[in-house]
Amino acid sequence: MPKRMLHRLPVEAYTELDWFEREQEAIFSRTWSYAGFAEDVSEPGAYVSLRAGLNEIFVVMGRDRRLRAFHNICRHRGTRLLRAVGNAQKAITCPYHDWTYDLEGHLVSVPAEQREFGEVDKSCLGLKPASVDLWRGMLFVHPSPDAGSIMEWFGEIEPHLGPHDVDELVEYPDGRASYEIKANWKIVVENYIDVYHLAHLHSGTLAMYDHARAEYGFVGPHYAFWEPLSADYAADIERNAPMPLILPPGQLGAWVPMLFPGIGLAESETSWSTYTITPLAPDLTRVENRTRVKNASDWAFGRQAWRSAGFWKGAITAKYDAGEDGDPLTSGDFTAEDVLACERQQQALRSPYFEVGPASRGEGPVLEHQEVVLRYLEGRT
Ligand code: FES
Ligand SMILES: [Fe+2]
Repeated sequence: MPKRMLHRLPVEAYTELDWFEREQEAIFSRTWSYAGFAEDVSEPGAYVSLRAGLNEIFVVMGRDRRLRAFHNICRHRGTRLLRAVGNAQKAITCPYHDWTYDLEGHLVSVPAEQREFGEVDKSCLGLKPASVDLWRGMLFVHPSPDAGSIMEWFGEIEPHLGPHDVDELVEYPDGRASYEIKANWKIVVENYIDVYHLAHLHSGTLAMYDHARAEYGFVGPHYAFWEPLSADYAADIERNAPMPLILPPGQLGAWVPMLFPGIGLAESETSWSTYTITPLAPDLTRVENRTRVKNASDWAFGRQAWRSAGFWKGAITAKYDAGEDGDPLTSGDFTAEDVLACERQQQALRSPYFEVGPASRGEGPVLEHQEVVLRYLEGRT
């Protein structure tokens, strides 16, 4: 029986564990992973930990205030050392047998060393280094200690990103979210870069941008996207912006790139957000959002919300007027609309009757992303 395809990839690429595992190895273990904002690790001992494909990695600031990344694996029997985010103070101690490392990764103490081991050559049992770098206010890690500079990876796409001065912006705590989508990570990426759906699925929720004038395309493995404001939103932007503007009036619009693999940004005239995608299983993906906004007073935010209220009252509508309670299509929330579309598409892939139709011009990026995935899996990078 011929393989059923979803454009360039077989349907199995979205449903089967062996594809998932190959991607973890060939894509997520061999590229830079987003690890958080620079300010998450801003004092000696502070750390963040994350999964990067097959690897567990943490970033810690040393006593010399340098950032270092290590594999989160005890050199004794491999127990994971640190969880989530925190401050290790002066040392990192493994919970299993209390081997202790300093913040620079050296093994400094082995309990009952003489009695249990005679002697341990601690100098060859330091934590295994990984790479860490900072780019546009974000921390990135790479499992290899020889990954080189982050600019080799993102340099080409950088001119296609927004002109935002990310370091000048501050985190907006209410913009932080973490949720799971019951779909393969590529479905989530494809939805993000599908230009065709913007005017349809989001007909009521993203009408403040002019999708017909969007400019987009791939730069190496990364996707760039920009679109201007809609005419009526732009006409009185000083009043209509829901929050204080973060770009000069001559440079407005939305830059919404998807950096490979699965690192989305949404850079607009009023906010700058990350949308990071972590594959959890063939049909399950975690998305984490964080948002930065202008460093302005509550008063300035309140005033702008009040000024713009009249515009937004009519500007955002649900896709459908009536439906069951909790229906994402009557929510007026574009994220809920996207989650619904991803999950409904994933469900269809199991059906023996699933067959993909033609791809539109605006879905060109979907096909190109599939080509990038194939290139990585086949080692053509
Ligand atoms: S595994 Fe870490 S101290 Fe034994
Ligand atoms: Fe969408």
